[in-house]
Amino acid sequence: MRKLLRRLLGRGKFFYFLRSLRMAWRRFRFGLKNVHPTFYMVAGAQVPSDLVAKEYSFVNVGCVIGAGVELGRYVMLAPNVGIVGADHRLDVPGTPIIFAGRPALKRTVIQDDAWIGFGAIIMQGVTVGRGAIVAAGAIVTKDVPPYEIHAGIPAKKIGERFSDPEDRRKHDAMLDGPVVHGEFAALPQEILERQRREARSELNGTAGSARP
Ligand SMILES: CC(C)(COP(=O)(O)OP(=O)(O)OC[C@H]1O[C@@H](n2cnc3c(N)ncnc32)[C@H](O)[C@@H]1OP(=O)(O)O)[C@@H](O)C(=O)NCCC(=O)NCCS
Repeated sequence: MRKLLRRLLGRGKFFYFLRSLRMAWRRFRFGLKNVHPTFYMVAGAQVPSDLVAKEYSFVNVGCVIGAGVELGRYVMLAPNVGIVGADHRLDVPGTPIIFAGRPALKRTVIQDDAWIGFGAIIMQGVTVGRGAIVAAGAIVTKDVPPYEIHAGIPAKKIGERFSDPEDRRKHDAMLDGPVVHGEFAALPQEILERQRREARSELNGTAGSARP
């Protein structure tokens, strides 16, 4: 059945068809009403029903997202990212913490085109600015300004995404414009396989496509 559908639709269309079927089920299962049809979450992620997720935002396996979170366009959460915290009252004397209730919810915003690395923890109430990057394993306790790269515990600035202001203007103009559609990056195993094929054909002296 899978093979037949793939042949009928072609590889690209088959991929998007399967993706939209899976997401239709997950939208229903998690009660997601505020996510764009192009939003995708991998099986095994936990998301709340109030999640807001814009075009092409992506939640990878093992992510745990608390309430009150908004993901902008093109946001990528790597595996095992947590957006947690501010969820139990710590200041009620004479009451065990498990019965102490919850403080007011703070909204957490991950703005357009931000990338959160593997295993990072974003504390609730934080804003990760547009185009910012959070390194693998970081714990973010304060807002991350746009296009900055933050790493470590607690996360601190280690760099900027664009060194030339003209590049940043160009990127801003793209993010302010209409939604961009593109091809998703190939999986690492697909890249390895392609490299192996190219190495083999070079050895055989049949390298045909000299790509830049
Ligand atoms: C944040 C990141 C993008 C930085 O990449 P980069 O710009 O190429 O950075 P570099 O490797 O040149 O490292 C720059 C500095 O940051 C430090 N650094 C890099 N990643 C770090 C991390 N995760 N935590 C702490 N420090 C880190 C490096 O040690 C280096 O420090 P130094 O200048 O004192 O030597 C990358 O390290 C990262 O964490 N990527 C996430 C990968 C991931 O989660 N993938 C999941 C698949 S979706």
